[in-house]
Amino acid sequence: MPKTPKKILQRAKTLRIEIEENNRLYYVLDQPKISDREYDSLVAELRSLEEDYPELKKLSSPLAKVGGKARADFKKISHGIPMLSLDNAFRDEDLRAFENRALKSFQHGGKIPWTYLIEHKLDGLAVEVRYENGELRLASTRGDGTVGEDVTLNIKTISSLPHQLKKKRSIEVRGEVFLEKESFRQLNQERGSEGESLFANPRNAAAGSLRQLDPSVTAQRPLRIFVYGIGERLDIKAKSQIQLLEELADLGLPINPYHRVCKDLDQAIDFYKGTLKDRDRLAFEIDGCVLKINEFQYQDELGATSKSPRWAIAFKFESPVAYTLLKACDFQVGRTGIVTPVAVLNPVFLSGVSIQSATLHNEDEIDRLGIKIGDEVEITRAGDVIPKVLRVSKKTGKTEIVFPQRCPSCGSKLLREPEMAAWFCPNRIECPAQIEARLVHFVSKDALNIEGLGAQWISILLKRALIEKPSDIFSLRMDDLLSLDRMGEKLASNILKSIEKSKETSLARALFGMGIQHVGQTIAQKLAKKVRSISELFELSPEELVQIPDVGETVAKSVTEGSKWLKQEAQRLDRILLYKEPPQPSGEWANRNFVLTGSLMQCTRSEAKEKIELMGGNVQSSVNKQTHILVVGESPGSKLNQAKKFGTLIWSEEEFLKALNKKSKI
Ligand code: IVH
Repeated sequence: MPKTPKKILQRAKTLRIEIEENNRLYYVLDQPKISDREYDSLVAELRSLEEDYPELKKLSSPLAKVGGKARADFKKISHGIPMLSLDNAFRDEDLRAFENRALKSFQHGGKIPWTYLIEHKLDGLAVEVRYENGELRLASTRGDGTVGEDVTLNIKTISSLPHQLKKKRSIEVRGEVFLEKESFRQLNQERGSEGESLFANPRNAAAGSLRQLDPSVTAQRPLRIFVYGIGERLDIKAKSQIQLLEELADLGLPINPYHRVCKDLDQAIDFYKGTLKDRDRLAFEIDGCVLKINEFQYQDELGATSKSPRWAIAFKFESPVAYTLLKACDFQVGRTGIVTPVAVLNPVFLSGVSIQSATLHNEDEIDRLGIKIGDEVEITRAGDVIPKVLRVSKKTGKTEIVFPQRCPSCGSKLLREPEMAAWFCPNRIECPAQIEARLVHFVSKDALNIEGLGAQWISILLKRALIEKPSDIFSLRMDDLLSLDRMGEKLASNILKSIEKSKETSLARALFGMGIQHVGQTIAQKLAKKVRSISELFELSPEELVQIPDVGETVAKSVTEGSKWLKQEAQRLDRILLYKEPPQPSGEWANRNFVLTGSLMQCTRSEAKEKIELMGGNVQSSVNKQTHILVVGESPGSKLNQAKKFGTLIWSEEEFLKALNKKSKI
């Protein structure tokens, strides 16, 4: 190995520091200071040094973990009283044992002096919310029980949680933040359609949504909260759990209406059984019930261990499970490059369905499970249909699962997605797995909807080099298809018919079909309202993109990024596809593109922009082929020449204002 010269060592060090700093600015603070191109050139330089002098790779290189730092800058908050967890019970006997343990602490001659409160165990995440003089002041997550994270701004986006109590009380309430099952399903569907990794369950989705450094992201997620307890019992009149719920509700706080005071365990078990039956009908996910000794007097006497209170217990539901062998672990690369580990299982029946694989979600989940190939695993179909590995039931495995450092398809070094624990392959253009997944996405039901051309044919066509990119699909001929094994004339002709039929589509479907990261169906529809072709979208600058309703910087960045390599394909598709006119915003100005240049005398630029947009038009920052009208003020810039070159209609300020007043035809 060549000895690395001092100068090179020094340069590599500088590059490493610069890259780390820019990663921090980009991923942690969302405030990049250099352009993508400058950043890429720093990375390229370091990469080439590392290739020439492999010794450099030993020093923890930022190339191995670009963006890998967690966004760890939530303020830490200590809980005045620790937020404990609960012991679990699964069978009636466990409840009886709990009761006996509690009874032993008292000399009541076997007669139970307390009542119980039983309620849902919500599957969300625990938070503490502090109100001072009736005003919401501070909210924190449970964290490790002693120290949590400050999520005040995020909590404030939950619409059902009052910022002001009905009375000027100073209290610390505790409760559970959760997402309804339907919101979870929609969020994951949206994430899937945007090519992002999926949340494993509503709990993770709620936690991911609450623990956002940008509360505006939290605000878009329909989080809910139910409060069920209190930290320090100050400024509270209640003498029991049930009175506490009533008092909290009177203060305007949201409480779960499903609860019951029981005189004995039998009544509590009845409630539990009823809940188990109704579980599927509930809007939110629960994983059991919580049984609490109702009266505070007895709660206080019983106290708590360091882990959990002696006066409460979780009575959990068992979900249907099956046991099978983990044969292998596959790593699948999705259309946006996210790598998902998938457990390959010995087929086993679970609720009437044969299961052969289950998701392992991500690297953290593999670590959490401590799973090895050859282990016997317990699987379940959690809430929804995706099978999931719950735990290792017999440690019979020997082979460690090693998460690949390189893409299993193209060998590129994987990078870490900052928000989720996901690794992705950055080789967007050439990675075969991504190319294939993107093609499958392009023909899928919600995109071009080419019936008969499913994932299997796409894979075969790719292998036979008959297609490479979406536009190639439209050049397929009868003899191309007939050259494939198991392709008959009837099938081939049907496929060709669906391809032909798919050409007449909507721009929104085509944009969605491009598979741009973060551009799901909803965003694609918004974008389609603003442009007339895919190419036109790719002409927009990030500044213009963020003007479009619901388009934030993430989407803008992703579109601009995509445009770099999708531009040519966009042009080809724009020539092939026939976009059905989207419903036009009414009025003559709708969808007209304006550019302003020079100083306007009678109104400011932003007023002019506002007026144009009010009429349904758009304002672009520079003149291009799609510009309809250039409005020229005093001392116009180079835009005037460009407009002349493109033959754009040119208006003086007077003409513009006159047209505005007359709502003139253009
Ligand atoms: S009372 C001392 N009530 O379950 C802990 N907890 O396993 C008292 N949870 O961290 C908690 N629903 O996040 C309580 N109705 C409920 C609950 C509930 C869900 C969660 C909570 C806690 C975990 C304990």
